[in-house]
Amino acid sequence: MFSAAKISPISKVRGKLSFQGDKSISHRAVMFASLAKGASTIHNPSSGEDVHSTIRIFKQLGCNIKEDTDYIRVVGRGFKHFEEPLTELYAGNSGTTARLMAGILVHQNFNSTLTGDDSLSRRPMFRISSPLAEMGAKINLFNNKTLPMHIAAVKKMRPIKYLLKIPSAQIKSAILISGLFVDEPSTVIEFAESRNHTELMLGLRVEKVPEGNLITVSRKNYPQSCNYLIPGDISSAAFFIVLALLLPDSELRIEGVSLNPTRSGFLKVLREMGADIEELNRRTYNNEVHGDLLVRSSELHNVAIPKDLIPNIIDEIPALTIAGLFSEGVFKITHAKELRVKECDRIAAMCSNLKLIGSDVEEYTEGYTFTGRKFDVPDDITFRTFYDHRIAMSFSILSFLLKDGAKIDNLACINISNPTFFTDIQKISG
Ligand code: S3P
Repeated sequence: MFSAAKISPISKVRGKLSFQGDKSISHRAVMFASLAKGASTIHNPSSGEDVHSTIRIFKQLGCNIKEDTDYIRVVGRGFKHFEEPLTELYAGNSGTTARLMAGILVHQNFNSTLTGDDSLSRRPMFRISSPLAEMGAKINLFNNKTLPMHIAAVKKMRPIKYLLKIPSAQIKSAILISGLFVDEPSTVIEFAESRNHTELMLGLRVEKVPEGNLITVSRKNYPQSCNYLIPGDISSAAFFIVLALLLPDSELRIEGVSLNPTRSGFLKVLREMGADIEELNRRTYNNEVHGDLLVRSSELHNVAIPKDLIPNIIDEIPALTIAGLFSEGVFKITHAKELRVKECDRIAAMCSNLKLIGSDVEEYTEGYTFTGRKFDVPDDITFRTFYDHRIAMSFSILSFLLKDGAKIDNLACINISNPTFFTDIQKISG
């Protein structure tokens, strides 16, 4: 068991920060560098536990991966040249590792087993085993639903035409990555746009069709070794942006952060809420947009969040909720049932913690609503993280904002995505 940690209030934040590489892009860079033949370098990777799960698995598959302070050197094995792992492949807490790896492992000429921690072992995997099975994969799940995932070697896989019903970049990417091993083209159509790092990093063709985006992939897109520069993680920065907006007399400059349009819906919503966020030095590298942000204290009001934006802001909804709590008017999240199958049930987790501070929060199947600026914090409060890094960071931010601070039941899970969370807070809070 973990002992609860007390978080004391801070009065303002000032200064500048840069963040370790975006988690989603770091996973993909490690994967594509490992698939490619020869040496690649990945600058500014995430050093979070999730990306380490991906690195560990590729080491088990025979890749030579050396980690330095701010870069990783990967010597990839080339097309279908991985070594058969001696043990099962443990994806830890990382959904991206488990789901995207499945798209790679189904094409190898050995059997493999993917496992995960308690949280990952509860998360749905049929959503990827089903399309991969359509391509010819032989996958066995526990109860046909969850990890462990047993993958048997098959002789030949076929292309797929897939209509993505769940707006998920992990499902889309598992299929697209699997399509890299097949000569004939595979296509995925997504109705609602989710993060497009796989498409950008592999240079895939994306066409706008009446149903949404039509993405095409084949062996022609198999990655080559190269240098990657990973932009700062906007999902890690999100918590600091909210803090700078809500604390008085604050100004925070965030340098070199990802401004990929499929990830920056969070900034759009905040600006509509009245946030003073200036964008500077926009630049592009490896097809990914980076830039700096200047964030100043702002008076916020809640706005309607369109349903099409939900896949774009899915990881930022917990941070946005904290902004909503201090904003005028009603905060409402709908069409977000995917939140129920994240590292924890984030709808239930947010609602139960908000109830602790007397919010009038109402829980729905696909979201929740509450009145902003209406809460009353009792003495000696302890928020629960449910061992979910984004819940832990959201309620840490809230604790920094409360007059007497608050306790959090477990902060260790923050290392899943941002091991520098508290040192960064220290840097900007004096
Ligand atoms: C991710 C996609 C999202 C996101 C997760 C990372 C990715 O999940 O929540 O943190 O790297 O593709 P879904 O695609 O399942 O929504």
